[in-house]
Formats: sequence, C-alpha cells, structure tokens
Amino acid sequence: MEIRIFKDIEKLNVEAAKYFIETIQKEKNPVLGLATGSTPIGMYKELIKSYQQGEISFVNTTTYNLDEYVGLDATHEQSYRYFMTENLFKHVNINPDNTHVPNGLGDSEKSCREYNQLLDDTQIDIQILGIGSNGHIAFNEPGTPFSAVTHVVNLTETSISDNSRFFESIDEVPKQAITMGLSNIMKAKKIILIALGENKAEAIRKLVQEDPNENTPCTILKNHPNVVILLDHAASSKLI
Ligand code: GLP
Repeated sequence: MEIRIFKDIEKLNVEAAKYFIETIQKEKNPVLGLATGSTPIGMYKELIKSYQQGEISFVNTTTYNLDEYVGLDATHEQSYRYFMTENLFKHVNINPDNTHVPNGLGDSEKSCREYNQLLDDTQIDIQILGIGSNGHIAFNEPGTPFSAVTHVVNLTETSISDNSRFFESIDEVPKQAITMGLSNIMKAKKIILIALGENKAEAIRKLVQEDPNENTPCTILKNHPNVVILLDHAASSKLI
C-alpha cells in the first residue's frame, strides 16, 4: 500500500486523475471502477478537463459503479446513477450503454445476481474508492465478510447520518443499498483510495495500523498488491 499525503487538494485530484488517464491511454478497452460521494468529484473534473483537451477519449471505455441506493430511480437527484451522469458521463464521449450502476429499482436480489454476472465476466483495470467515516468501502459496512459479492445492505446509522447532508431530511435517506462486495472490489488490477477531511482520519488510522479484519472493511485493501492511498493533511492527522 503506497500512501501519499497532499497539502493541496487540487494537486491530489490531478495526481488521482493521472492514474486513470494513463489507464485510459494504455488500454484498448479500458474498464474503470467508479465511486460516488463528494470525494471523487474533483478527480472527475480533472478527467473531464483531460477529455476536453483531447488527451483521452472514453469511446472504448466501460465503467462499473460501486453501489446504488435501493428505491431511487435514475432521475432522483440523490441516486448514484444521476450523480454519475451529472459529474462525469454527460461531459465526456462515453457510450451510456457502457456505463453500469446497480439497479436500485425492482427485484434487488435479481439486480445483485445480474451485477455479479457482469463483474464475473470482466476485470476492472482501475478502481477509485472513497471511504466511510466508519471504514466502509462502497457500502460494505463493518462486519461484512471479506468474501462478499454484490449484495443488498441495510445501511448503518452512521452511514445514514453521514449521507443525510445530501437529502432534505434524514428521513429521506434510503435505508438500503445495493453494493459491490469486498471480493468484487479486490479483483480490480489497481485501486486508488482518496480520503479528505478530519472525519476520515480515524478510518485512515485503522486502515494503516490494523491488520486486515472484517470490523474495519477498508483493511482488506492490505491484502491487495496494487493500492495507492491519497490523503489530505486532515485525513492523515491520526497517522503520526
Ligand atoms: C458513501 C458511498 C461510498 C463513499 C462514502 C464517502 O457511503 N457509498 O462509496 O466512499 O459515501 O462519501 P464522501 O466521499 O461523500 O465522504
């Protein structure tokens, strides 16, 4: 696990985007693993800039998102499909048919099976991750088995409360989500995790100091051969 700490968030975003730009330039059919939340937005802006400057094209790119709320459709402003359209897809030349986000509507178990099938048939070249304040990655909450594949999850109070800032009231936050499992995530060739801000410092401390354990889902990343962690000063503040 390589850890890089940045004073300047703009620079962190540029560096995060560089890993993706390299993959998109190098692979004939790049497969990207994407995440939502406030953390990757700056990196997506850098990718859009790179596309606008003619450095990269998304025409042969396929994407898989980590998760989606149960019960929100693509037009709901807090759905993760909507987030991806607004923050990346509509600004670049990606074919919408090549973008995958778990389907939060209808039969959730069927959606999970279908998503696992898609993930079984491919390998993600590079995966971006944020981290929850409780150490979750995607929506793999504390206690999730490392062997988990895509599944329906009951969100913890911490995650509901953390994410309530995006909704008008806490009651509107969905109580369930569909998430890629930890074992799906670990199949990616390379993983980039970004953590920004003080409220991620404890999760980052656990990631660095604990042995892999299921109570702190992010610690599974220690078992992966190619992980880069990008931190701002606040997120790294409990490391020393
Ligand atoms: C949600 C997402 C995670 C994300 C986390 C952190 O729980 N499911 O994938 O990493 O939020 O979000 P933020 O980047 O807004 O802090």
